[in-house]
Amino acid sequence: MKILLINGSLRGELSASLKVARAFVNGIAMESGATVTEISLKDKNISHCQGCFVCWKNTPGECVIHDDMDELRSLVMENDIIVESFPLYFFGMPSKLKAFTDRMISYVQEYRGNPGDEENHRFLHNMRYPELQKKKLVLVSTCGYETTDNCYDAIFAQFDRICGTGKYTTILAPQGGMLSEKGFAAKVEKYLEKFTEAGREFYRDKSISEQTWNKLQRPMLGHNTFETAINMNWDTPDVGPYGR
Ligand SMILES: Cc1cc2nc3c(=O)[nH]c(=O)nc-3n(C[C@H](O)[C@H](O)[C@H](O)COP(=O)(O)O)c2cc1C
Repeated sequence: MKILLINGSLRGELSASLKVARAFVNGIAMESGATVTEISLKDKNISHCQGCFVCWKNTPGECVIHDDMDELRSLVMENDIIVESFPLYFFGMPSKLKAFTDRMISYVQEYRGNPGDEENHRFLHNMRYPELQKKKLVLVSTCGYETTDNCYDAIFAQFDRICGTGKYTTILAPQGGMLSEKGFAAKVEKYLEKFTEAGREFYRDKSISEQTWNKLQRPMLGHNTFETAINMNWDTPDVGPYGR
């Protein structure tokens, strides 16, 4: 089994989402012996999709732009589980990950407007290559707010349309900034253990239970501690995870 972990945070190694994603992926790897390939979008040259549809019409599956997406598409093909790790930006995905997502359009089939498509989720595109259908997609994301409540609605709506409802897995965590706060290092280590356990469950059961999903989103810090920590971060130079 092979796992591709895509770090979609431009904070690279400082990424809070990456900490969560690595914990989750480690759980899968421990249970399955899977090999993990990790790449960072920060280091990749990804042009924006130019919307020409040559990859749907003239050269099906082949994009006219040749940049690091050639390598990334091959990696997607070679791996069984694709983990996209990213911070929530204005309730959506960061722009470089969106550029990556848009450029994957060459791997889905063209829209044909078949009659009846509307009732049949007409926005869903079949994958161009049958191997893609078998892959599992996991979205791992942190947000900065105290809870994840209502924060991911746009992401859910988007991926329900891209993959189909229930066809992808989400691993979400709030208070992302606090995962990089040195004062909470011991707490963070303990907190991440539940994501590793969820990775094991994901491999064993091919999914995670609703109970686990809810447990993962429980904030690391209680309200008062979070409020104090976040306000100290903004008000005190050289204190806190943000602004470095
Ligand atoms: C441009 C920008 C937009 C953001 N928008 C949101 C948001 O809508 N909701 C939220 O809870 N956090 C938001 N955040 C905070 C990040 O999601 C949060 O700090 C996250 O944990 C960073 O993850 P990373 O370290 O993996 O990059 C935003 C941060 C930036 C820089």
